Amino acid sequence: MNTYVTGNTIKQLREARKMTQGALAEKIGVSSKAISKWETAKGLPDISLLQPLAQALGISVIELMNGQCITNKNVSANMLRSKFYACPVCGNVVHSLGNAVVSCCGITLPALEAEEVDDDHTVTVENVEDEHFITVHHPMTKQHYISFLVFVTSDRFQMVKLYPEGNAETRLQLRGRGYLYYYCNQHGLFQKKV
Ligand SMILES: [Fe+2]
Repeated sequence: MNTYVTGNTIKQLREARKMTQGALAEKIGVSSKAISKWETAKGLPDISLLQPLAQALGISVIELMNGQCITNKNVSANMLRSKFYACPVCGNVVHSLGNAVVSCCGITLPALEAEEVDDDHTVTVENVEDEHFITVHHPMTKQHYISFLVFVTSDRFQMVKLYPEGNAETRLQLRGRGYLYYYCNQHGLFQKKV
């Protein structure tokens, strides 16, 4: 992650849009020499220029700062491709149908990569009437706990927020096949096919 826009990012985005240095300069009201300086790391755009620069390059300021440009193709096609982002500072959880640049508490959050269930994070799913009772076998202390649990199918998303004071269990209606995800604040995201 970059902490400020880099010359490389500006150059790559400008070239991807088949824009000359002069054309970009004109759009944001600076000289083409200024653009050339930024791109060769001999200067940086003033912070007041970030918004017009991002707009001219067709991305958000946060993408410009990170050097990441996100483009999704038809994200609504399948919820099974969902991404989760968890903030290590405040515990915020963000769900996205596709890739995104997500920022919270001043941190750009990576999409969580789900792992297969391990011996310290096993889960059982029991049928109770028309619901399923889900238990994650894991401690629930303030330092180490399961923070959320999600069941995703191709067209549905159910999320349960868990808290250290409670148990790592919940009831969910599991209609159809999908994936159960749960997130340990210390060990990350786990997934199990249901
Ligand atoms: Fe854990």
